[in-house]
Amino acid sequence: MTDSDLITDGRAAGADVPVLRLRGLQKRFGQLHALKGIDLEIRRGEVVGLIGENGAGKSTLLKILTGIQPADEGTFEVNGERARFRGPRDAVAAGIGVVHQEQSLLLHLSVAENIQMHAADAGDGVRLGLYRWGRINRRAQKVLDQVGSKLDPRWRVSDLTFVERQMVEIARAVAAGTDANATPLLVLDEPTSLLEPAELAALEKEIRQIARLGSVIFVSHRLDEILRVCDRVVVMRNGEVVADRSTDAVGEDELFELMIGRAAKAPEREVRAATGEPVLEVSGLTRRGAFHDVSFAARPGRVVALVGTSGSGREAVCRAAFGAEGYDSGELKVAGRRVESWTIPKAIAAGLGYVPSERRVEGMVGGMSAIDNLSLTRSGALIAPGKQKQQASEWFERLDVRPRGPKLELERFSGGNQQKVVLAKWLKDQGLKALLLDHPLRGLDPGAGDTVKREIRTACAAGIAVVLLPDTLEEALEMADEILVLRDGGITAVYDVAVDAPTTLDLLEKQL
Ligand SMILES: Nc1ncnc2c1ncn2[C@@H]1O[C@H](COP(=O)(O)OP(=O)(O)OP(=O)(O)O)[C@@H](O)[C@H]1O
Ligand SMILES: [Mg+2]
Repeated sequence: MTDSDLITDGRAAGADVPVLRLRGLQKRFGQLHALKGIDLEIRRGEVVGLIGENGAGKSTLLKILTGIQPADEGTFEVNGERARFRGPRDAVAAGIGVVHQEQSLLLHLSVAENIQMHAADAGDGVRLGLYRWGRINRRAQKVLDQVGSKLDPRWRVSDLTFVERQMVEIARAVAAGTDANATPLLVLDEPTSLLEPAELAALEKEIRQIARLGSVIFVSHRLDEILRVCDRVVVMRNGEVVADRSTDAVGEDELFELMIGRAAKAPEREVRAATGEPVLEVSGLTRRGAFHDVSFAARPGRVVALVGTSGSGREAVCRAAFGAEGYDSGELKVAGRRVESWTIPKAIAAGLGYVPSERRVEGMVGGMSAIDNLSLTRSGALIAPGKQKQQASEWFERLDVRPRGPKLELERFSGGNQQKVVLAKWLKDQGLKALLLDHPLRGLDPGAGDTVKREIRTACAAGIAVVLLPDTLEEALEMADEILVLRDGGITAVYDVAVDAPTTLDLLEKQL
């Protein structure tokens, strides 16, 4: 579809008709008033950032716009027409493409099938009961090229990494948004939280591209990214819009204050001495096709950060250390003893904890209460229910988990609040000796991020060894005592931060 098609399209005619207009949208979940009357307009060609604390109501709002759930009160118009979405299909037909906060691909299908499935003309891929593979694959290829992804449309989604799947989600949203016969609106709920700089750059370019045809609503907790990509930023707090600014007229510090209600703190940094015997020691660890000859030691009270791009193998190393995946050769030592046929139960029994990046798949049981999720560790199951309850409310307080309802099912919490519970599960554990953290700040608002960083420091001060896979190089420099850079499965540099602190540029060069 070209720009001129859009202009002849009746619904898009008149550039002054907003692509989206919300009036008084309200949503309640039982006692909880999640949206308290949202008014908002998105004009054609705009990229609008939507930010706010964990639990502010961002995802709830986007679910209403994309036909996942109805509003209790209020109305909205898409391209000047009152929207009455009965389901996600109606939203797609109106030109709304979406990437939800949690991934939603069908794993046993191919990349192309997943993209086709959500297209406005999904049925077009089938003719006389037969799949039109050539057509489905060609179309997927086109949109994958558009978003700068090198994935093959024929690959099965189950064989892809988490980041690759995220690119499929994005491609699918772009396809849905641009295929419909309407001005496209792309709705992205934290699509970038796991992307590495190269993918991020491709996505940012794509967002600007889409904005030439339609509009974009973009949720992210990375304020620098918001300021770079968006024209305007809307701040939500407690289910209300509290600010609406042009990104030219606002800075990161001001945005932080608008969303959290207090000023941002400068990063704290304290360098700790190398103390004690390693809790966890990895020597020459190798798995064909994933990583090779990786060695490092996690010592009590120290943070070792592993940095690298998405093909670096750092996640696989971390998973092998926790017994979640195997290795072919090399050695793992825990508390000075060599371990064999390492498994997750053995790792947990030895005092290791692991926060996975795929929190929804591995880190939590959504249908169980938060309190029961907290008990899913070595010591958790052994303590009395009364004590469990007390512990839960203590940790809810410490990490400011909202709402303060440990008995609620975990899937009823917002993404960031779920992440806090997954972290608390390990932090509360008295017998914990080493903590492997794969993107622990993912999905947390900047204020919650500060709180969790403080808790990681507190754990260190109590003698716990931390292995950290940070979201950004800045996070590595702020948190780590030692930084290992990985590229293509091998270590390219090791820095002792107290002795020779690297710059961001040093780290970038070593990982590319
Ligand atoms: N299905 C549900 N049942 C009960 N409460 C819910 C449900 N879905 C959301 N909520 C509540 O609504 C509020 C808003 O949640 P929402 O997911 O919109 O937050 P968010 O701004 O997207 O936060 P985050 O940055 O953590 O993703 C939260 O308090 C959440 O617990
Ligand atoms: Mg959310």
